[in-house]
Amino acid sequence: MRTESRPAEAQPRSNRSLEGLVYVTRRAHFNAAHRLHNPDYDDAWNREQFGVCNNPHWHGHNYVLEVTVKGRPDPATGYVIDLSELKRIVHEAVVSKCDHRNLNEEVDFLKGILPSTENLVIAFWKEIEPRLTAGTLHSVRLYETERNYAEHLGPTAS
Ligand code: NI
Repeated sequence: MRTESRPAEAQPRSNRSLEGLVYVTRRAHFNAAHRLHNPDYDDAWNREQFGVCNNPHWHGHNYVLEVTVKGRPDPATGYVIDLSELKRIVHEAVVSKCDHRNLNEEVDFLKGILPSTENLVIAFWKEIEPRLTAGTLHSVRLYETERNYAEHLGPTAS
């Protein structure tokens, strides 16, 4: 019996997406402890530089992480990246390793790094970027408090 149907790959496809560059963002939360202390300097210098953030008994933050991916909507899905996929990537790369942890002592990719918000966004970029399955990483923004955040636009940004 003859059939008019063709293999799926030969089906004509219409482009149901619009042309344009879009930035999509996933927000995640985690709680973590840290201490700002540079062991290359003495205690007085550390107290002077870091104030209460140098507390030897640690302190915590409710961090808010925003990861932005840029790209053009896929003609078939309309997505730059499936946000459930981005959620999974951010969780695997950062949240699962940092949430309810001591950032100085318990996170493999932060060993020996002073956990300032600035250093954290650079470190998080390095963990997230290689895991992306679509689009291009545009920014990693981390709020340490409601009023203070740092943002990294990647190693080539100037
Ligand atoms: Ni702090």
